[in-house]
Amino acid sequence: MTKVLRMLTTTGGTALREMAPGFDLARIRADFPILQQKVHGRDLVYLDNAATAQKPKSVIEAMTRYYERDNANIHRGVHYLSERATAEFEAARRTVRAFLHARHPEEIVFVRGATEAINLVAQSYGRTYLSAGDEVLITALEHHSNIVPWQLLCEQQGLKLRVAPISDNGELVLTEFERLLGLRTRLVAVAHVSNALGTINPIATIIKMAHARKIPVLVDGAQAVPHTPVDVQELDCDFYVFSGHKAYGPTGIGVLYGKSTLLEAMPPYQGGGDMISSVTFEKTTYNKVPHKFEAGTPDMAGAIGLKAALEYLDNLGMDNIAAHESYLIAYATDAISAIPGVRVIGTAKEKTGVLSFVMEGVHAHDIGTILDQDGIAVRTGHHCAQPVMKRFGVEATVRASFGLYNTEPEIDALIRGIEKVKEVFA
Ligand SMILES: Cc1ncc(COP(=O)(O)O)c(C=O)c1O
Repeated sequence: MTKVLRMLTTTGGTALREMAPGFDLARIRADFPILQQKVHGRDLVYLDNAATAQKPKSVIEAMTRYYERDNANIHRGVHYLSERATAEFEAARRTVRAFLHARHPEEIVFVRGATEAINLVAQSYGRTYLSAGDEVLITALEHHSNIVPWQLLCEQQGLKLRVAPISDNGELVLTEFERLLGLRTRLVAVAHVSNALGTINPIATIIKMAHARKIPVLVDGAQAVPHTPVDVQELDCDFYVFSGHKAYGPTGIGVLYGKSTLLEAMPPYQGGGDMISSVTFEKTTYNKVPHKFEAGTPDMAGAIGLKAALEYLDNLGMDNIAAHESYLIAYATDAISAIPGVRVIGTAKEKTGVLSFVMEGVHAHDIGTILDQDGIAVRTGHHCAQPVMKRFGVEATVRASFGLYNTEPEIDALIRGIEKVKEVFA
């Protein structure tokens, strides 16, 4: 049975709260050891989830268990531990496949993170299939990791980078995006969710528009996978990338999903280790996908930790997580909007739990420092999205980003902290 709570919000409105069965915040928070500490004598309020999320015990234990029981190099060994480590690593790949609803496990390539995955596609697909005069289309709300790899490729291949604009509330201007899909557009690379604004892009429509012109689409899902269900087959995207550490998994591991036809047709990104089938000084032949793209010893423990993280998310239910965070952002936006002198940057209709804001007369870093004194962790700066800052005429924002374990009392603490900043700078 669904528990429905009506909460009075700070501006006197009511936000409807639906708690899914099994979504017990106290129990969930107990799964995260790091949340149980005090910072500067106050309960830690961790609101920096867009930078990296905390890890549940199950992830930490899975990695410890791997190192205590199973550690061996994978794929090449015939001994017992190597076979067991290989089985665990490949099981992690199958878990990622299921989580993203990909068709085949071979479509899942383990990389270091979203950044490496985008660079892989730029350098492997881009250098093979794009040539002078071709265009790559991105949007104005991208993270630097989905800008710079394309700029590097543009320099190498003589391409043009096109940028679809965003509106004053931080939404992609779809008509402009469609207009920019030209005869020379060879690739679209677009964030599913903006890290600086929280905007959820209409990714299915974007993909349809591009595919109508036979243009492949890479989706940067770094800020989407931890917060919303993703089905790559339903989306029909060509590439989808994300980082483990933002999805409650370990650092150092991430995923490139690519349609198998595309991965098959792409050359290796790096050479060495497990990506070969045979090597002579005259000629090297390559392993099959996905191993062709996994040169060197991979992050075995990382993949196993990521498996545990995705299982954790799956157990809670991505729909439940999305509903909880959508409630939190509504509650927080409502509360912060009642504070004079605060401007929220990014007010898209469809948003994840990212609250970016600036305050009249106070630098973002000062706000962050004062909040930290109360144990509240937020990020301040340009969030690796300098073009977004420029678009809104600010140098930096304060970004509070919510995760599955955040609560209304934590948002209340944030609001009290902001009020305190106002008093200090009055
Ligand atoms: C939207 C987006 N894309 C890509 C990245 C890069 O992720 P990573 O540093 O884990 O490779 C980030 C990180 O903040 C991000 O928010």
